[in-house]
Amino acid sequence: MKIADALPQDASDILHDMAAAADLAGRALLEAASQRASLKVTQKTAGDFVSDADMAAEKLIFDYLLERYPGYGWLGEETGAVHGGSSSLRWIVDPLDGTTNFLRSLPHWAVSIALCDGDTPLAAIIYDPAKQELFSAERGHGAYLNGQTIRVSEDTTLDAALLATGLPAGGRITYLPHSLEDIAATMPLTAGLRRWGAASLDLAYVAAGRLDCYWERNLGPWDIAAGILLVQEAGGRVTPLWPDKDILTSGSFVASNGGLHDAIVAQLNKDHDFR
Ligand code: IPD
Ligand code: CA
Ligand code: CA
Repeated sequence: MKIADALPQDASDILHDMAAAADLAGRALLEAASQRASLKVTQKTAGDFVSDADMAAEKLIFDYLLERYPGYGWLGEETGAVHGGSSSLRWIVDPLDGTTNFLRSLPHWAVSIALCDGDTPLAAIIYDPAKQELFSAERGHGAYLNGQTIRVSEDTTLDAALLATGLPAGGRITYLPHSLEDIAATMPLTAGLRRWGAASLDLAYVAAGRLDCYWERNLGPWDIAAGILLVQEAGGRVTPLWPDKDILTSGSFVASNGGLHDAIVAQLNKDHDFR
């Protein structure tokens, strides 16, 4: 797939640059995927892996974008924050979202790049090299999959709704009780749940109407900045799970097609006061 052809006609030059950076990282990751056995893998916390493929992909994206936009800030999952000059514009990047899937040869992982003004996403690229799917959005210009408009699902009744979430594991189980309660509350009312293992693609799938709702707690800003914009530009809704807590700060939110939002939010956090 020629990455430039997978963008909408009116894509800006900066979106083209973001897609080119994602393509560079995607090619390197596909190459690394063919040599998984030789990858150096460490655990940041129990069950949370990072490999030299993650690091190399992040460096490729950093070098490509900061060479072209030297005054912008940076926040990468693996390299942390680099403050821009006077600009409030910054890149928020997860070079490989779904590392565990990647390391286990599960073809469900993505490169996620967001251009933000502070915490407000302005442009988004989520690229799934294994499936050759490029999700893109620019604020006020809609959301796209391989250059074709995408929209959230039509209002489905709760009993037909397909949900997704992330399930805490290993060293990150602070919110495991909340997750188990969420599942107990929502499963009897809906058509089921998916736990795919790549938050950026969970959000992209809500935007594309493949899922009706996705929620998760305690994610990093790099997991969600691009996907939040995709859902919003596809006509969906994203609200904090922790009332009055900024989503990028808490990493806890509900994203949906809008029509089902309030009915599902009412089932989440029922027994917890997070104020
Ligand atoms: C992970 C994935 C997963 C989510 C985890 C994230 P990573 O990202 O998005 O779906 O549940 O909380 O850390 O670590 O593979 O970049
Ligand atoms: Ca991630
Ligand atoms: Ca990652």
